[in-house]
Amino acid sequence: MRPGLRDFKLGRHPVALQYRRAGPTSHRIGAVNHILHVVGARPNFVKSAPVLRALQRRGVRQTLVHTGQHYDRNMSDVFFTQLEIPEPNFNLEVGSGSHASQTAEIMRRFEPVVLECKPDITLVYGDVNSTVAAALVCSKLLIPVGHVEAGLRSFDRTMPEEINRIVTDRISDLLFTPSDDGDRNLLCEGVPQERIHLVGNAMIDSLVRLLPVARNLSKNGFPERFALVTLHRPSNVDDGETLREILDCLANVSKDLNIIFPVHPRTRQRITDFGINTDNVRLLDPMPYLEFLALQTRATVVITDSGGIQEETTYLGVPCLTLRQNTERPITVILGTNILVGDDRTLLVCELEKILRGEHKKRTTLPLWDGHTGDRIADVVQSM
Ligand code: UD1
Repeated sequence: MRPGLRDFKLGRHPVALQYRRAGPTSHRIGAVNHILHVVGARPNFVKSAPVLRALQRRGVRQTLVHTGQHYDRNMSDVFFTQLEIPEPNFNLEVGSGSHASQTAEIMRRFEPVVLECKPDITLVYGDVNSTVAAALVCSKLLIPVGHVEAGLRSFDRTMPEEINRIVTDRISDLLFTPSDDGDRNLLCEGVPQERIHLVGNAMIDSLVRLLPVARNLSKNGFPERFALVTLHRPSNVDDGETLREILDCLANVSKDLNIIFPVHPRTRQRITDFGINTDNVRLLDPMPYLEFLALQTRATVVITDSGGIQEETTYLGVPCLTLRQNTERPITVILGTNILVGDDRTLLVCELEKILRGEHKKRTTLPLWDGHTGDRIADVVQSM
């Protein structure tokens, strides 16, 4: 008997019940002969490099699209060179903008590329605006989407990246997770188990490969002991009072420990906009991948609000103090060297003193953070 409208409203529609059991219908993934990759921002480049290499070794046809979200030489080109990423086949040159305009512009410029290339699958990386924009376009064109670094959740929807993660995971067909907390989050959200592939951390693949090169770079006159600082999250840099207070705190720290602070362009802009005096803190331009990795390996401590750096310091066993209330990478706190100090500057100074006394968290080995994630992703994609 066909269900009536009343049954449907009450959720007793048999199809609705089946839908809930099986999870959303996915685009069918057929044989994969042509893979399209979409990257746009600094961390995407680091995550995509090992996947591109693994698939290249297997002779798979690949097309690379750069959205142009990051475009400065030292935010983009230098990463392509050092990570040996091939020249993109398409550069959408979207540049900067508000979240809505940047995301919309990527979608508008990316759609014709997908229609022209007709890939068998598109791989997107991380949680930036380019990730969600590309996933939306492909999903609506019925092109299967694979999300590298799926399942991470900060459970903080004030972070634009959290929205990007939730939406991208919801519409992706293959979900490549870096750690088992990612699997658990996805299962809790109703993603069918068969779409989830625990493959490890692609960003760590790049680190493992290039660490010997970074270790060989000269010390370039940097001090023996120093705190390496990065800040770019809106919650830390978009409010004048907060940014001033963080920089004052760093100026105090610099009386005991040198500070090296490669400044993200948005942070540099905010420092100028708010007229903040930075005489006591050494501000540098954003650094290339290898030079920054070299500094991480030698740092006494890293103070950051970046996601990727929480992971890199954990892998390297370098103490990390994160200026955030939460993290989508809890494994770095549970198994790694990361401590969340939020906006508590007293806690920051207290943890810093402990680190200077040598009382810091030690690294443990993280499952599947072994430099072979790119190959595992290629295995899954090729097994379709
Ligand atoms: C983006 C990601 C963030 C990631 C970060 C890594 C989103 C929502 N955010 O943040 O998750 O951690 O990249 O760096 O996607 N700018 C330049 N040159 C560039 C790029 C940016 O000057 O090459 C300036 C522009 O003023 C721009 C601002 O930086 O408005 C912010 O850039 P945007 O790409 O919007 O976000 P990010 O803060 O870099």
